[in-house]
Amino acid sequence: MDEIEPEARPSSTQTRVWDLPTRAFHWLLAATVIGSVVTAKIGGNALVWHMRLGLLALALLLFRLVWGFVGGHWSRFAAFIYPPSNVAAYLRGDSGPGGRFDIGHSPLGALSVFALLLVLIVQVATGLVADDEIATTGPLYRFVESAIATRATTWHKAVGQYLVITLVVLHIAAVLFYLFKKQRNLIGPMWHGDKLLAPGTPASADDAKQRILAAVVIALTLSLSWWIARLGA
Ligand code: HEM
Repeated sequence: MDEIEPEARPSSTQTRVWDLPTRAFHWLLAATVIGSVVTAKIGGNALVWHMRLGLLALALLLFRLVWGFVGGHWSRFAAFIYPPSNVAAYLRGDSGPGGRFDIGHSPLGALSVFALLLVLIVQVATGLVADDEIATTGPLYRFVESAIATRATTWHKAVGQYLVITLVVLHIAAVLFYLFKKQRNLIGPMWHGDKLLAPGTPASADDAKQRILAAVVIALTLSLSWWIARLGA
């Protein structure tokens, strides 16, 4: 199948796909997750920063959950929840009606996004009640039974940690595969927001109003995260 991709059409126009809040979320989350892994490996005093980064990750993930309902068109969950038949079609090389699968997250990309978000949410949640049995406990540790804290800690330090690392490595490998093997640059749009698409393709709203809304949502989720941190003080 050699269907012409939307970006290859001569009359293509630059169209906003990833709004600024989604892009800021993405790169901040990436830095936060990498920082959390590094500080966990260093241990000792670096665990203070591990917990701070974990709380920042919590605020970012809560932001993304809200943004999945009120964000720009292509950032909304509704734009990238696909039936299994679409995943199968995409794997066969189909790019969907009007190149639909190549605009926002593809059916396969969407699965990896949901897996990443889920695994990161579980990682942060288990960290909130974890106990390293030396000097560090999560801010909600004292609110749960010790058996639950033990199980959460085991998940957080063993399974969860490796799941996060594995998914991140797969994620980056997939992006690089698209770049070098399929000659499709997904990184540029996640940086500047735009893709060359067929005229008439709906764009994601990314105006001042939308950005103010994002600022309000992140202020709220940061406050919630800060409040949770205070519970452990
Ligand atoms: C710890 C590191 C990372 C994490 C946790 C992460 C997580 C995510 C998440 C959650 C999304 C979905 C964005 C959304 O809809 O909100 C995403 C998309 C994306 N990420 Fe990452 N990311 C990481 C690192 C990277 C790096 C290093 C690159 C570039 C080399 C990258 C490139 C992309 C691209 C291009 C997309 C859009 C994929 C598509 O078009 O469907 N990510 N990432």
